Amino acid sequence: MVSSSRVAVIGAGSVGATIAYALLMRKVASEILLVDIVPEVVNGQVLDLSDSAFLGSTVVRGGTYKEAGQCDVIVVTAGAKQNPGESRTELIGRNYKILSSVIGSMQPIQKDAIIMLVANPVDILTSIAQKLSGLPKKQVFGSGTYLDSGRLRLLLSQKLNVSESSIHAYVLGEHGDSQFIAWDAAHVGGKPLLSFPVIQELDKDQVAKEVAGKAYEIIKLKGATYFGIAACVSSLTQCILLNQRHIRPLSVYHEKLGAVLSVPAVIGRNGIEEIFDIPLAKDEQAKLEQSASTLKEICAKYV
Ligand code: 2OP
Repeated sequence: MVSSSRVAVIGAGSVGATIAYALLMRKVASEILLVDIVPEVVNGQVLDLSDSAFLGSTVVRGGTYKEAGQCDVIVVTAGAKQNPGESRTELIGRNYKILSSVIGSMQPIQKDAIIMLVANPVDILTSIAQKLSGLPKKQVFGSGTYLDSGRLRLLLSQKLNVSESSIHAYVLGEHGDSQFIAWDAAHVGGKPLLSFPVIQELDKDQVAKEVAGKAYEIIKLKGATYFGIAACVSSLTQCILLNQRHIRPLSVYHEKLGAVLSVPAVIGRNGIEEIFDIPLAKDEQAKLEQSASTLKEICAKYV
């Protein structure tokens, strides 16, 4: 645990509460503040979470938006969730209003805070939060396609019979329907992913569809997704608090493309420390640019 490690989780629904739980299990935060507009939900979640907190020394409690603005890491999960069959971008109208109010209520946000957007559509909401928060862009980013990349790595590990942690493969672009797999840059133990016969035989479009469709499938079956995103967000929070400087595909402002979308980035105590432009095949580069222009178009209506 580091000396100053206060984490606020805005939104105490399934995603927020599961993130708080995953963070408690990591034992890296001194305090977790759960914030929501419905006090009963916060009280219930805090009571439940505190039953697991005795295993470590993290304090979990309810907090106000103003207190959240003074935390080291602020995780924003507040927002409407997708209905079965609904795309993430369709949530923008509802979630734009919620985000504006959340950021407004947290002001003045302390100058070193890191804001991590989780609510969807995450790329667009990140772009809005970068404008409204007043913080430098590198301190405001979204969980992006880190989860999609995890879904891809799991699938590839089953094909290759190699641990996910040895598979370096990214889903990039939008955390949504226009995402794509960066096949060319992917590698396993120093060998290009595409050099493995089992991968050459794969129907790549089918894999991309399966990865992009996994959230839809889960939402259809159980109404929401929260374990995967909680694992990702708790790991990213640890990475910030301990300045671990891992490279993760995250929703960041990309100067050249003029949009917020996922590309590999180094994450540490100052937020996004560096962005990596990795070699992409021609069609992949075209998909990245297409993702950027789709997102820019939607963003222009809001900020
Ligand atoms: C997910 O991909 C719904 O964005 C959420 O699990």
